[in-house]
Amino acid sequence: HSAVLTIDPAFALGPVRPRLFGSFVEHLGRCVYSGIHDPGHPTADADGFREDVIELTRELGVSTVRYPGGNFVSGYRWEDGIGPVADRPRRLDLAWHSTEPNWVGVDEYMRWCRKAGVEPMMAVNLGTRGVQDALDLLEYCNVPGGTHFSDLRRANGAEEPYRIRLWCLGNEMDGPWQTGHKTPQEYGRLAAETARAMRMIDPGIELVACGSSGRGMATFGTWENVVLTEAYDQVDLVSAHAYYWEEDGDLTSFLASAVDMDRFIEDVVATADAVRAAGKHEKRINISFDEWNVWYIHRAESQPPSGDDWPIAPVLLEDRYNVADAVVVGNLLISLLRHADRVHAASLAQLVNVIAPIMTEPGGRVWKQTIFHPFALTARHAAGQVLRAAIDSPTVETAKYGEVPVLDAVVTHDAETGGLVVLAVNRSTSEPTALEVDLSRLGDLAVTEALTLANPDHTWTATADDSTSVLPEANATATITDGRLGIELPPVSWSVIRLA
Ligand code: AHR
Repeated sequence: HSAVLTIDPAFALGPVRPRLFGSFVEHLGRCVYSGIHDPGHPTADADGFREDVIELTRELGVSTVRYPGGNFVSGYRWEDGIGPVADRPRRLDLAWHSTEPNWVGVDEYMRWCRKAGVEPMMAVNLGTRGVQDALDLLEYCNVPGGTHFSDLRRANGAEEPYRIRLWCLGNEMDGPWQTGHKTPQEYGRLAAETARAMRMIDPGIELVACGSSGRGMATFGTWENVVLTEAYDQVDLVSAHAYYWEEDGDLTSFLASAVDMDRFIEDVVATADAVRAAGKHEKRINISFDEWNVWYIHRAESQPPSGDDWPIAPVLLEDRYNVADAVVVGNLLISLLRHADRVHAASLAQLVNVIAPIMTEPGGRVWKQTIFHPFALTARHAAGQVLRAAIDSPTVETAKYGEVPVLDAVVTHDAETGGLVVLAVNRSTSEPTALEVDLSRLGDLAVTEALTLANPDHTWTATADDSTSVLPEANATATITDGRLGIELPPVSWSVIRLA
């Protein structure tokens, strides 16, 4: 195979927004307890947060972290999680059939965010709760003082307000599994009224309305249309969630998952813009792709406990990722970047243990899954503007998405440093692809670094004992001849090529 990429620095699509590299911490399984929080761990700080996990969170390059759910938030009473830890109630968490001990709440979480150097993205419960509870939480977090909840925050040790900017108006309210699941009309009204009232407290906040929890939902499209028709003026972003997995050994379709993400984003943009036209609105609603990843959703470990068993922090959704999964994750990031004009935030779901790039042993080791690498490298190197890229690639037939390009790529250009970054995926399961990038409109460039993640066995999976024998490696085939970059991309591979 061979493919050609043509770019021009004049054709910029939008900035590389740091918020594209967000993640997600939910009270689910071992994400919080024995994930970020493990008081018995040798590296634990005064709050019980593992410093080694914080270190890897920084290395991952995560910007915003969504919290506290997910499905969990739709039954959560945030005030259970404040004040002396010993006095906090235990509650049933209906979403994951677990017991929530409330050892970590909003104040601990905000301290963790500060330590990890990430921006919080706070979700309010619009499942079992409504406008007032959202207002109380906002008052607790963002009002300087002199009122009941703001003074409670100060009494709990946070003199200064948290001034959280990014807020999710509930979670996946279109999903029949959601506690307090709603019709689009019901949710749209509630989201609009919650948003309107929240802005009376703090006009500076940015609000995300729930979009669809998957492109395959029966209500997809209608949901966005109705919700945005109700709440257009009150919200800034609409969410999208998508999970992908290799089904029945169909690797070819799985490797093309980003095609589905592309269509998902473009469908939501079209719907939001249709509501804009019909309502004669000025502003545009952009997308917060605030849950995305590979998730083997049907595996037994994704099924919550049942009956009288309501454990604290059970092992749930602890997927182990192989090389192909990492290639897909890298490709999903390419899709998000390619839509930088309209996708203004995104969150890899999730951060630790639960469908996560970072894994922990209780009291023990921390290690990186394969998906850690494409995320960390993209977050570190993508910079400046995303360029429109004309991709001329051979195609491959997929059962799920029809004919798709074998080669997928995105390019970022930093006008200040002159740095160019090419992120590329070879979706072929058997053939290398020779990629050529026409650099003639970019002046003199040299390859600074070319790294490729691949392995003859794409099912190689990282474990606690061996998480390093397959890592992104220098790709020695990268060369520049007559203003053209050439590189050979092995089958089932993800690469980053940096030029300056
Ligand atoms: O990330 C796991 C779960 O997936 C979240 O709790 C929910 O929002 C989604 O269905």
